[in-house]
Amino acid sequence: MTTEAEIDVHLGPDQLHAALRCDVVEGLGSMPKELPPKWFYDHRGSRLFDEITRLEEYYPTEAEREILLRHAPAIIAEAGADTIVELGSGTSDKTLALLDAARHDGRLRRFMPFDVSEEFLRASAHRLAERYPGLSIHGVVGDFDRHLHHLPRGGRRLVVFLGGTIGNYEPVARKELLAQIVEGMVPGDHLLLGTDLVKSTARVELAYNDPGGITAAFNKNILEVINRELGADFDPQRFDHVALWDPDEEWIDIGLRSRIEQQVSIAALDLEVSFGAGELMRTEVSSKFRTDRLSEELAAVGLDLKALYSDRRGDFGVSLSVLV
Ligand code: SAH
Ligand code: TRP
Repeated sequence: MTTEAEIDVHLGPDQLHAALRCDVVEGLGSMPKELPPKWFYDHRGSRLFDEITRLEEYYPTEAEREILLRHAPAIIAEAGADTIVELGSGTSDKTLALLDAARHDGRLRRFMPFDVSEEFLRASAHRLAERYPGLSIHGVVGDFDRHLHHLPRGGRRLVVFLGGTIGNYEPVARKELLAQIVEGMVPGDHLLLGTDLVKSTARVELAYNDPGGITAAFNKNILEVINRELGADFDPQRFDHVALWDPDEEWIDIGLRSRIEQQVSIAALDLEVSFGAGELMRTEVSSKFRTDRLSEELAAVGLDLKALYSDRRGDFGVSLSVLV
């Protein structure tokens, strides 16, 4: 017998639609234009992201997996959690290392994945329910920026936030998100945070611009989402995928550059948007970290860094911190 996963949906089709309209109006109306990265992850986008994680050039996934496989038992023992919450869980693929270690340890009762992508959350919650009979699985479909307080409370918690997704927030928004995460924790609860580390420009740029074009397709998928959901007429071929290292901000700046001067109409918003030839619209930043900045940012929200694990090549960091 397998236990059924329970799923709460705080972002149904109507709310998603309303939020997308707001983000598009605001983002395409600002200078420079930008679109928030959460809109990458519809069915096709989530699949493309999954392909990215398997690319030779995209080192973060394997580096983080290596760290988790090696250190999961120590992390689980140190955290002593009966509840694991996973933010931006996606397929929860790497998380299996932690769940396996936790099951072995015997204390884990509940797993709560949280993601904006309902379809992927459902699929992964059901897969986990089969793999871990007796573990209570409670998924939440929501947006980090708005629905974190809907996560059920209680239990000794380990909050897991992998994939370097925290780096997709700029410093001010990142501090707010970390503060929100901490709101749902009590002293003694732990945070396991995956952060990509600063490294050579060439390797980072290649990770976000693979020669096979999967990353470009993923980035351009955001235009397809707006076409489908809001009746827009973006032609993805009229945009180039751009991913450039910004040495001052220490992030990779990802965007779409209009090849030509063009007008795009967005029917559902009754909006015409002009793009100049060469105009760049940002779709995401992916910040890379150094240890000192990371521990400062954690300390600023009351988290005390206990351990920072890295892979053999020193590419990626997974930090374990405790709320004091
Ligand atoms: N944890 C996985 C996936 C990382 S990709 C890994 O390490 O490989 C980022 C994930 O966060 C995706 O599953 C995406 O759907 C989710 N996500 C992105 N923005 C979000 C938001 N604002 N709220 C909730 N989930 C979000
Ligand atoms: N969270 C991932 C990262 O920062 C997302 C990502 C990977 C991404 N490749 C991308 C986003 C390409 C936009 C374009 O690494």
